[in-house]
Amino acid sequence: MRVIIESDAEAASRRAARFVADLVRRKPDCVLGLATGSTPLALYRELIRMHRDDGLSFARVTTFNLDEYVGLGPAHPQSYRHFMQQHLFDAINIDPTRTNVPDGRALEFDTHSRQYEQKIKDAGGIDLQILGIGSDGHIAFNEPGSSLGSRTRLKSLASETIRDNARFFGGEDKVPRLAVTMGVGTILESKRCLLLAFGAHKAAAVRDTVEGPITAQVTASALQLHREVVGIFDEPAAGLLKRRDYYADVERAQSLLESGQLQALGMATK
Ligand code: PGA
Repeated sequence: MRVIIESDAEAASRRAARFVADLVRRKPDCVLGLATGSTPLALYRELIRMHRDDGLSFARVTTFNLDEYVGLGPAHPQSYRHFMQQHLFDAINIDPTRTNVPDGRALEFDTHSRQYEQKIKDAGGIDLQILGIGSDGHIAFNEPGSSLGSRTRLKSLASETIRDNARFFGGEDKVPRLAVTMGVGTILESKRCLLLAFGAHKAAAVRDTVEGPITAQVTASALQLHREVVGIFDEPAAGLLKRRDYYADVERAQSLLESGQLQALGMATK
């Protein structure tokens, strides 16, 4: 995993937005995997700014969201469909028919989940998956103990997640207990992942994800098996990482490589 540590969440989100924008410019019909929650908000704000000020066009982009609460329709203010409309889709030139969020009111979730997976395949797979991480180390709603080979399906929320999300619903008792979520296996099939985490309350999850063993108890740790993950963290979220000096060395080398200054690395150039 490539680890990038920025001073604060705003700088980290701008960095993440550059990754997304580079892909959208290089491949205007790319497929983006999108996340909800507080983590990607500043990233989405920056993408909206790039659309408005720099002409970044999403006209041919297709999107798939990670998850949705069961029982909430698109008009519910806490539904993830509503979140996406409010924080990204309504402010950019994306074709609404190309935006996909699991249906929290599907009548038959097994069928709906299979169809969602098929739709991702039919679109050519996800080029770049944006991910937050739960304080219990989950990605999407793959709670501790989820199979690392899991596919899109119904999932019960863990008590830690219900507590974390109670603030949005005005109390723990109002948080839905079930969600439909892409599986860890689904996420691992995306071509590239961008993992974001901000704040000291994420530090233990980030440490376990990046430097801990691969375990279903921290489903984000399965990303260690993915061949192209970029983790972008702010200082507090990176606070418990042990190999920070090495990550900084890798970033220095990376920027020298990108600027064509290979001599500085002690390498011959021809
Ligand atoms: P957050 O949630 O972005 O609101 O912290 C992340 C998650 O639970 O995946």
